Amino acid sequence: MTGGFCVPVLLAAWLAAAAAEGLEQAALPAEESRVQPMTASNWTLVMEGEWMLKFYAPWCPSCQQTDSEWETFAKNGETLQISVGKVDVIQEPGLSGRFFVTTLPAFFHAKDGIFRRYRGPGIYEDLQNYILEKKWQSVEPLTGWKSPASLTMSGMAGLFSISGKIWVSTYKQLYLKIYIFKE
Ligand SMILES: *[C@@H]1O[C@H](CO)[C@@H](O)[C@H](O)[C@H]1NC(C)=O
Repeated sequence: MTGGFCVPVLLAAWLAAAAAEGLEQAALPAEESRVQPMTASNWTLVMEGEWMLKFYAPWCPSCQQTDSEWETFAKNGETLQISVGKVDVIQEPGLSGRFFVTTLPAFFHAKDGIFRRYRGPGIYEDLQNYILEKKWQSVEPLTGWKSPASLTMSGMAGLFSISGKIWVSTYKQLYLKIYIFKE
């Protein structure tokens, strides 16, 4: 692994929402990036063809560690015949709920509407092999109610947003700590 995971995503998302203004968005210029940002309104594009998705938060150090690798992966997307996307969990808490994202960064593989969690290090070589050697075939797909595509998950996406709001008031102390860590 390249470093650890970030804090549970919903907690983090709502912390960031609370502390939003001051945080700089460290990102590559959009015109140079081949990584496609996905939102609640167009994420269903990933139901067709082959995709890899990365869930991240702008301020999450272990997410940033894999940024350049993810970019390289996207630049080679045409050769690998894959689309490469990213989801900002701060902007898209509903999508994070739908994909059951609880740690950051979180990676998913999607092929023809079948979703799998990619648990590798997120470095280019490994991502390339994952696609070229079809390593995803040996990973159990997300099925039934756990699949992001399921109807139940539409409900879950809403539920996550709501419980996220509740957690903000319950975990004040915890996200104070996260905030200090962030500084
Ligand atoms: C999805 O929508 C966002 C926001 O409008 C846009 O920036 C992005 O390019 C879209 N992604 C795709 C794959 O069309």
